[in-house]
Amino acid sequence: MAFQHELAASLSSAPIGVFDSGVGGLTVLRELNRQLPNESILYLGDTARLPYGDRTPEEILQFVRDIIAWMMEQGVKMVMMACNTSSALALEQVQQEFPVPILGLIYPGARAAAKAGKRIGVIATPATVASNAYHQAILEVDATVRVWQVGCPQFVPLIEQNRLQDPVTLDVAKTYLQPLLAAQIDTLIYGCTHYPHLEPVFQKFLPVSIRRVDPARSLVKAAAKELELLNLKSNLIGQPTRFFVSGCPDQFSQLAKRWLGHAPNVGQVSFASAVTQSEVI
Ligand code: DGL
Repeated sequence: MAFQHELAASLSSAPIGVFDSGVGGLTVLRELNRQLPNESILYLGDTARLPYGDRTPEEILQFVRDIIAWMMEQGVKMVMMACNTSSALALEQVQQEFPVPILGLIYPGARAAAKAGKRIGVIATPATVASNAYHQAILEVDATVRVWQVGCPQFVPLIEQNRLQDPVTLDVAKTYLQPLLAAQIDTLIYGCTHYPHLEPVFQKFLPVSIRRVDPARSLVKAAAKELELLNLKSNLIGQPTRFFVSGCPDQFSQLAKRWLGHAPNVGQVSFASAVTQSEVI
């Protein structure tokens, strides 16, 4: 009995693994810090292989397998995919392969959007749009809702290059959002975790009447429920997040400073099946 109690206590203090291709997952981390401040987080940005949004489903599945296998070695108690592209293309498969709870963004986001409106626009990476995952998930919740999706390949590179204030970013955003405005959407899903970083840009031209849905909120709510159910909630206080990337730690640290308020210490990992973007033909 005492042994079981100790085991549960040591498991509950284990970190939650959170991953994305880059700084997009910081928008999920922000929600985690808000809703579950006692959890210790292990954050991985697969920056050597971003953007994921232009990758094939096979590549994305392999990257996700690499990351979760590494996170398991680090002793995580749960994995949160802070990446819609991974959630859309690999969630069901890796849930069957790894003995750890793994949560994705699509269903929590779809449920929140279907509650919020009837004419839903989805902006996401080309890979997420091609998977049709959001469209299907929203219709499963409410078949009367109408959905429009737009792939936005330029957003992630612009954000990772720290070009939020560049006038080009505003022009690109207006072009991507134009068909959704023409369709008179009442709700907009940020279908990529990088996109909430664009909120100041969207504010310049998106009507306030359009409800924004950041799936991170509902994902973290779902994670909190799951941790409660599994008796895995942490009671620790003030656990610092540990950051790792597969690319350049300094570059990530400098970029992350903008949202974290400080430049974090960042470690480096490398994955056996590393395929950098430049090698992809
Ligand atoms: N932030 C990720 C997502 O939510 C991945 C973006 C990318 O690397 O293209 O889809």
